[in-house]
Amino acid sequence: MKMKKLVSLVLVAACTLSLAACGSKSEEASSSDEGKKETLVMATNAEFPPYEYYEGEEIVGIDAEIAAAIAEELGMELKIEDMAFDSIIGAVTSGKADIGAAGMTVTPEREESVAFTDTYAHATQVIIVKEDSEIAGPDDLTGKTVGVQLGTTGDIYAEDIEDVTVERYNKGFEAVQALTQGKIDAVVIDGQPAKEFVADAEGLKILDEAFTEEDYAIAVAKDNTELVEKINDALAKLKESGKLDEIVAKYISADDAE
Ligand code: ARG
Repeated sequence: MKMKKLVSLVLVAACTLSLAACGSKSEEASSSDEGKKETLVMATNAEFPPYEYYEGEEIVGIDAEIAAAIAEELGMELKIEDMAFDSIIGAVTSGKADIGAAGMTVTPEREESVAFTDTYAHATQVIIVKEDSEIAGPDDLTGKTVGVQLGTTGDIYAEDIEDVTVERYNKGFEAVQALTQGKIDAVVIDGQPAKEFVADAEGLKILDEAFTEEDYAIAVAKDNTELVEKINDALAKLKESGKLDEIVAKYISADDAE
């Protein structure tokens, strides 16, 4: 009799426990249904390692992880939309995306159409040439054919070179390929992707002298000051906690930092 009682007690206890577990699960489900997490839509161009690129089907990289960390701070769910780089600002201004995070340099021209958050990375535009090239610095680009990714700062600055022919590609990688094939004389592109592309190619080098210095920030619709402030707060927290450095260190070795 005693034994039976014990068994039934255990059964009741197990039942209660499993009910509780069940209960808390369904509670969780229903509460997240009610207060369904808002989505933070990020527009990017995932052709820009180590900031954003595909690993299988997934878009990974520094920007993807920073945006995910920001979304987490804001209690939102991140959704990444891949598009052409020169469509990102339009996606943000039209409201198709909430943010543009794409190793995007803050420029006065862009600031006319979007608001930028605080900056989160320093960068340079570098020149890639063939190992045996006679081009040794920006001044030698005069009269040459320079490849860039369409709509990037590399594109904007290359335009200013005297007597230059600018070849615009949809992907930075395609410009580097054209250089390998001898179709163009040089590529002007951001320093970190340059390192990745050159490492994967044969016979190319990056010139020591950088073309420009710049800073990356996240683009937000101009009238959405609330989101800019929220992201700046989140960024400050990520900087303070060391999380931002941690994300960067995962993709860029300390020697290669700019
Ligand atoms: N920093 C450059 C710019 O803002 C290039 C950025 C390219 N980014 C990309 N995800 N493809 O114009």
